[in-house]
Amino acid sequence: AFEVKLASSGKSYTIAADRSVWSTLLEHGIDIPVSCEQGICGTCITRVLQGTPDHRDVYLTDDEKAKNDQFAPCCSRAWTALLVLDL
Ligand code: FES
Repeated sequence: AFEVKLASSGKSYTIAADRSVWSTLLEHGIDIPVSCEQGICGTCITRVLQGTPDHRDVYLTDDEKAKNDQFAPCCSRAWTALLVLDL
C-alpha cells in the first residue's frame, strides 16, 4: 500500500494493493475522469507534485515517464510511500 495526498485539500488516502488510485479516490468522492481504465487512452493523466510513480500505463512516452511529474491513476502505482497529486 501507499498513500496519495491531494495538494488542494491536504488529505491523504491509502491505496490498497488490490485497488487503483482512481477507484480509491472515487470512493471518497474525488472523480478523476477516466475512459479505458487500462493505461491506454491518457484521459486520467494527473500531475504528480512529489514522489515517484510506478508507471504501468502505455500512454506516456519513456521520456515523460522518466520526469515523474505525471501518471495514470487508473493503473499506475507508486515506488515511494507517498505521492502528492495536483488535485
Ligand atoms: Fe485511460 Fe487512465 S483512463 S489511461
